[in-house]
Amino acid sequence: MASTASSATAGHAPAGTRRDFLFIATATVGAVGAAATLVPLVDQMNPDASTLAAGGPVDLDVSKIDEGQQVMIRWRQRPIFVFRRSKQTLDALQSKQMIGQLADPNSEALQQPPYATNWHRSLKPEFGVLVGICTHLGCIPLFYPNSSATTPVTNWPGGYFCPCHGSKYDPAGRVFSGVPAPYNLPVPPYRFVNDKTLRVGENDASAAAWNFDSIRQL
Ligand code: FES
Repeated sequence: MASTASSATAGHAPAGTRRDFLFIATATVGAVGAAATLVPLVDQMNPDASTLAAGGPVDLDVSKIDEGQQVMIRWRQRPIFVFRRSKQTLDALQSKQMIGQLADPNSEALQQPPYATNWHRSLKPEFGVLVGICTHLGCIPLFYPNSSATTPVTNWPGGYFCPCHGSKYDPAGRVFSGVPAPYNLPVPPYRFVNDKTLRVGENDASAAAWNFDSIRQL
């Protein structure tokens, strides 16, 4: 499905966060395999909504994502965050200071496929793939790739912050202790078709029996 290219801003994101988002649509929904192109999110949602609702897989060319940048696509009408993590971020995910603040650092609650039950909650450490829906009451968390002057809370290394009631998640979507959200951000089914093509909505063959509907909470 052809699309045009551009970047766009997030609906609720403050200025500091908007720079870090690109809304990238996929070239094909349901009939995967065509080259990906870029469109503003609102344009992607309208023509593709019925197809997305039907649950067709969505392809994304991850080679277009710069390190430290996040892209949001839609799958089954849900926002899917795809974050290309830097070495600094990967180091932060493994730091004892970070882990000590998390409610479920080892992803023991069923919020992800088996292949994402690891410290980076993903197939490849450098790419995070998350359903961007807060597990408290369903707001879309804001993305802060690292701690900075624009970070809304102190003593937080960055990641995802939900402005609705203040829940915090780390860059792997692991929820912090003592916030309203009870669970980590879900990980959708996905696989890499090749080095640069991420396919959301299709399980890795080794986890074919895993069902997204079995996750504990969106
Ligand atoms: S919906 Fe995210 S903290 Fe309440």
